[in-house]
Amino acid sequence: MKLPDSARFSTICIHAGQEPDPSTGAIITPIYQTSTYVQEELGKHKGYEYARTQNPTRFALEQNLAAIEGGTAAYAFASGMAAIDAITTLLKAGDHVVVTDNTYGGTFRLFDKVLTKYGLEFSYVDTSSPELIEEAIRPDTRMLFIETPTNPVLRLTDLARVAGISKAHDIRLVVDNTFASPCLQRPIEFGADLVMHSTTKYLNGHSDSVGGIVIAARQEDADWLKFIQNAAGAILSPFDSWLVLRGTKTLAVRMAQHNLNGQALAEYLEEHPRVTRVIYPGLPSHPQHELAKRQMKGFGGMLSFELGSFEEAKRVCNRVRLMSLAESLGGVETLMTHPASMTHASVPPERRAAIGLSDALVRISAGIEDVQDLVDDLSQALG
Ligand SMILES: Cc1ncc(COP(=O)(O)O)c(C=O)c1O
Repeated sequence: MKLPDSARFSTICIHAGQEPDPSTGAIITPIYQTSTYVQEELGKHKGYEYARTQNPTRFALEQNLAAIEGGTAAYAFASGMAAIDAITTLLKAGDHVVVTDNTYGGTFRLFDKVLTKYGLEFSYVDTSSPELIEEAIRPDTRMLFIETPTNPVLRLTDLARVAGISKAHDIRLVVDNTFASPCLQRPIEFGADLVMHSTTKYLNGHSDSVGGIVIAARQEDADWLKFIQNAAGAILSPFDSWLVLRGTKTLAVRMAQHNLNGQALAEYLEEHPRVTRVIYPGLPSHPQHELAKRQMKGFGGMLSFELGSFEEAKRVCNRVRLMSLAESLGGVETLMTHPASMTHASVPPERRAAIGLSDALVRISAGIEDVQDLVDDLSQALG
C-alpha cells in the first residue's frame, strides 16, 4: 500500500504510518507487547533494542498522528499531561510562558504547582485578545501556550494572528488541540510550532484509553522530544498505542456526527426557557462565530450551558439518564460534566469567576448517538 501524496484527510487517518506487518502481512499493526528485542550478535540488531526507546506499535501511531496534524514528527506519551510536561522541558529556569487563562484545570495545576518550583514563570491571559498577548510578552518569554476552543467556556483564539505574534517575537507557539481534533483544525497550517492532544479524547474516541501526543513542526523540537520521551520515559504503552490507532481510523466519520449532534443540542438548549445561556461556536450568538467559521472545519461536539443557579445545574446533572455524568470528553457516548466541581475544581474560585466559569455552568460532550434520544434525555432532565 502506498499512500498517494494527494491523499485527503480521512484517507490519511486510515492509512498513514500503517504498513502491513512485515512478518505476516497482518493489515493491522500488531500490539508488540515486549520489553526487549533479541540481537543477532553484539552490535547487530533490527533497529529495536529496548521498548521504552523503540516500539513498532507506538511508532505506527506516531507516524499516523504526525501525518494527521501535518507535522514533522510525533511522540506519544502516557497521558495528555505527560505530553504537556514533555513540551515544557523545551524551556529552562527563568523562562516565561504566556498561557490561555481558561486552560484545562490540570494544565494550570502542572504550571502553577509544579513548574514554578523549577523557575518557570507563567502569565495567564485571555488569548482571544491579541492585544493582551502582546502586552503580556516580556523579553524572557519563550512560549505561547494556547487552547482553542477553551475548556469549558469555548473561547477561541485566532490562530493565524497568534502565529504572527509568536513569529514576530521568536517565541514557540504551542496549541492544545484536544477540543477541536485535527479533523476540525490543524494549527501547524496556521503557523504553530507544536500541537498536543490528550489522545484520551477525540483521537481515541472510545473512552477506553488515557494518552497524549505531541506533534512538532520543527526538526530541532522533534529531536528534543524524542530525547526526552526516552530520557524521562513517560511513554504510551503498546496496547494504548494500538487503541488510539484504531480510533484515528474513524476520526473523520465520528467528528462529522459529533458536529451534527453538538449543533442540534446547542440549538435545542438555546430555545429552552430554563437555560439562560448556551456557549457553542456553531451558534450565531457565540461572540466568535465568524472566527470559528474561518478557522474550524466544523464546530465540534463540545458545548456548555448555564442554568439559573448551582442548584438547578446539580439537578440536571443528577437527572440525565442516557447521558452519563462523568469527567472527560470526545468519546462516542454523550457525557455531562459540572466543570466547577469536577474538571476545573483545581482552579481557584476567583480565577473561575474571571473566565466566566460559574457554578451554574454545565458542559456536554455530545457523543454520536441518535440526536433525538439525546434531546429527549435533556428534555426530561430539564423538566
Ligand atoms: C484540553 C485538555 N488538555 C489536556 C488534558 C489532559 O489530558 P489527560 O487527561 O489525558 O492527561 C485534558 C484532559 O481533560 C484536556 O481536556
